Amino acid sequence: MVKKILVLLGSPHKQGYTMRMLEYFLQCLPMEERQVEVFDTYRETPAPCSACGWCATHEGCAIRDSFSQLDHLLRECDLLIVASPIYNLSFPAPLKAVVDRFQQYFEARFSRGLRPPIEKPREAVLLVSAGAPCVEGVEIMEKQLRQSFSVMNTHLVGTAAWLSTDQRENGWEKAKSALERLSLAISA
Ligand SMILES: Cc1cc2nc3c(=O)[nH]c(=O)nc-3n(C[C@H](O)[C@H](O)[C@H](O)COP(=O)(O)O)c2cc1C
Repeated sequence: MVKKILVLLGSPHKQGYTMRMLEYFLQCLPMEERQVEVFDTYRETPAPCSACGWCATHEGCAIRDSFSQLDHLLRECDLLIVASPIYNLSFPAPLKAVVDRFQQYFEARFSRGLRPPIEKPREAVLLVSAGAPCVEGVEIMEKQLRQSFSVMNTHLVGTAAWLSTDQRENGWEKAKSALERLSLAISA
């Protein structure tokens, strides 16, 4: 069966460090029959959550924009890949907007009683590139995703990080090993 892979891309650079990680990870994945969709947050720029409360009483979101397309792709996919650089210990703003818009699934679960708000289960991975040799931001991003995914029928299998991209001697070989290990942990 064809496996549907959705990439949630947080980098503005089409040939940057994050993209290199993503391309290598896709090469490592074992499934042969696959369909890959990329939701490029810098191109689609979904609006930030305005905390209007609409999703506490209605399906979806009051803001009608590119998030509707993402919602559709998310519900369909077997594997979600979140690929992002670290900006100030977190996601770049367009991807952070997406994470905040996931609030509609929290409201669907806890205000509207939907169990689960997203029917089909999926696995997810986080691929992160970081200029500094420090894992603090990676841990914060992972924590944010685990919280959102807890009401999205989505299991974060693991994270691969490429640290120290700002250094001349950056750790691509280490990052490659992490990506290879993570690809083996996927069962989708
Ligand atoms: C606005 C901004 C904020 C950043 N903040 C951090 C940070 O908090 N920690 C870190 O390790 N790197 C930080 N970086 C560096 C990027 O995460 C790093 O260069 C990354 O590898 C870029 O990936 P890309 O080539 O996909 O854009 C920051 C870069 C920018 C532009």
